[in-house]
Amino acid sequence: MTVSLAMIPHSRPSLGDEDVEAVTAVLGSGQLGQGPRVEQFERAVAAFVGVHGGVAVSSGTAALELALLALGVGPDDEVILPSYVCAAPWLAVVRIGARPRIVDIDLATFAIDPGATRKALSPRTRAIIVPHPFGLAADLTKLQTLGVPLVEDCAQTLGATVVGRQVGRVGQVTVCSFYATKLLCTGEGGMLLSNDEAILEKARALREYDEEPSLQAGSFNFKMTDLQAALGLSQLSRFRSFLERRAAIAAYYQRALGPTGVLLPTVPEGRTHIYYRYVVRLRPSHDSQASMDALLTRLEHRGVQCRRPVFRALHRYLNLDGYPASEQASETALSVPIYPSMTDDEMTRTARMLCEELA
Ligand SMILES: Cc1ncc(COP(=O)(O)O)c(C=O)c1O
Repeated sequence: MTVSLAMIPHSRPSLGDEDVEAVTAVLGSGQLGQGPRVEQFERAVAAFVGVHGGVAVSSGTAALELALLALGVGPDDEVILPSYVCAAPWLAVVRIGARPRIVDIDLATFAIDPGATRKALSPRTRAIIVPHPFGLAADLTKLQTLGVPLVEDCAQTLGATVVGRQVGRVGQVTVCSFYATKLLCTGEGGMLLSNDEAILEKARALREYDEEPSLQAGSFNFKMTDLQAALGLSQLSRFRSFLERRAAIAAYYQRALGPTGVLLPTVPEGRTHIYYRYVVRLRPSHDSQASMDALLTRLEHRGVQCRRPVFRALHRYLNLDGYPASEQASETALSVPIYPSMTDDEMTRTARMLCEELA
């Protein structure tokens, strides 16, 4: 079979001339490693979210690991996290020797299920990782009452709001990812945000190994470079327009895909969705898994790269039973291309192909 040459990729960075200029200026300055631009980027992201400060690091996964360490989580402590998420949060927990307790999600929003989280609490629970999935903030009201520190994972949701306030202000620590195809990119990169200066201080000390008064197990080289921070700052100056473009594409998809009968993204009252991913759910059938595989292949051959929004849920990796919502999401959720650099032609072609394939 022939694959169309004009493939619409599932994701793509949104880069412009101003980004090239910003990075080139750093190259010319001779200050490439962690320096003033990293500090400036930390201040800018913290101000955007509305928290006291930030610590820029090499990836979102590194930010998660440092967040747990800065909260004092250690070997044999338990950390609760949802099954329907990428491997990064699980890896951060096990890398520091803690025990992951995996819970189910709420299928309508794909967010961690507060009821299941409460049931998973034990005297050893030291933190709950709350990913805000696909661009919609999870509801933290019930989770806040559980008496355990929350790590808000905003890797996919920077810029979303809850009753007019930026996501990422509630947890003891918030983490971001600036991977190449994230909402705002630095190639690779991440940040830990907090209102607690002691947490930020601890994370700063752990992200590098040099010039410390003593050898600290847990310290590593998790630094971001000024080259990356310059790209992040340049992207941040256009961030509002990125979100507007995502909203416009999502509105078009909603109109175009509504009549197909797929379940469109849910947006609870008081929250904004910034559509890092446009995730629809197909109606479950006796062979959902096979139908999804076949649909993805047909779309790819027609030039539209859709994906499962989570490659493999954690309960599937770990062969665990008892995760019905994560299981159903694994079988029926479909992520449709959406990014600021998507052209109108790509947007309309994507919607048309999907409508034809789902008819
Ligand atoms: C919810 C979530 N958390 C953490 C990460 C890890 O971020 P990074 O790839 O920057 O390590 C990702 C990356 O996709 C993510 O989606």
